[in-house]
Amino acid sequence: MADKPTVLVTRKLPDAVEERLSRLFEARLNADDRQMGPDDILAAAQGADGLLICLTERLDGDLIAKLPASVRIVSTYSVGFNHIDLAAARGRGIVVTHTPEAVTDATADATMLLILAAARRAHEFQLMLREGRWRRWSAVGTLGTDIGGKRLGIVGLGRIGRAVARRARAFGMEIHYHSRTPLPEPMAEGAIHHPTLANLFAACPVVSLHCPSTPETRGMIDATSLGWLPPGAILVNTARGDLVVDDDLIAALADGRLAAAGLDVFDGEPEFDKRYLDLPNAYLLPHIGTSTIETRERMGFDATNNLESFFAGREPPFRVV
Ligand code: DGY
Repeated sequence: MADKPTVLVTRKLPDAVEERLSRLFEARLNADDRQMGPDDILAAAQGADGLLICLTERLDGDLIAKLPASVRIVSTYSVGFNHIDLAAARGRGIVVTHTPEAVTDATADATMLLILAAARRAHEFQLMLREGRWRRWSAVGTLGTDIGGKRLGIVGLGRIGRAVARRARAFGMEIHYHSRTPLPEPMAEGAIHHPTLANLFAACPVVSLHCPSTPETRGMIDATSLGWLPPGAILVNTARGDLVVDDDLIAALADGRLAAAGLDVFDGEPEFDKRYLDLPNAYLLPHIGTSTIETRERMGFDATNNLESFFAGREPPFRVV
């Protein structure tokens, strides 16, 4: 149908999502999932009404300025939108939407996986087994630590932070959090607010990051903030890699000030600081927080719904700007 809006989809998405996109729009799909650079995006966006992008496509101010005037909406298949220059989009009158609800449970599950893996030294035990160093059951030696009865410090008690809190409570953890303003009690569900990051870190032997990457939060985990944690603490990051200063985290893990880290995200990914690979107390995953079929489909449907509402003249459900 000639009057369907044209949408450029920059990555291969689950089949059910692509089917729906193709039903609703003239969808320009990326069947072989090739990585599109700025020039590819500009060429493919000619005449498009909207873009559906992933966090792997950086829409900086320069690229947004060069987008054809026909593009009126960018729907990102992610909760995070730090890969999009929002001010530039706003300046051009381009609507930006994201998928905050779809990612919550899978990301919270992955966070628990990392908390447990870090606390129970999963990587070291995997190596012991795979390298043939498992001799016999032992009451002493390499031991992990319980998470039950410990305090979990959550940085950013948004949707994902609260979903992590609910899971962690079931494991017997006490929930503390830092955010600029305390949440109203029905939302905080008893979590204890700390007005500063320093307060939170000093009180919590396990800390998990759930804040967006912004100019204020980038590099927030550095030698100073790591120094606020009790000795032998655990840090988990399923948010964004650039919240962490790799040099400082690696130093703290190497000298044992930090017992362990669980990391799903890295600064500059898919590149990352390869020194992490030499650290037995770093449990590493390649940004798979949302990688379940159910979640990836939900993200796709939410990203599609945002486009559908916009083109129908309605407010998109998850609008950023
Ligand atoms: C998001 O939605 O921002 C996640 O990082 C994608 O996995």
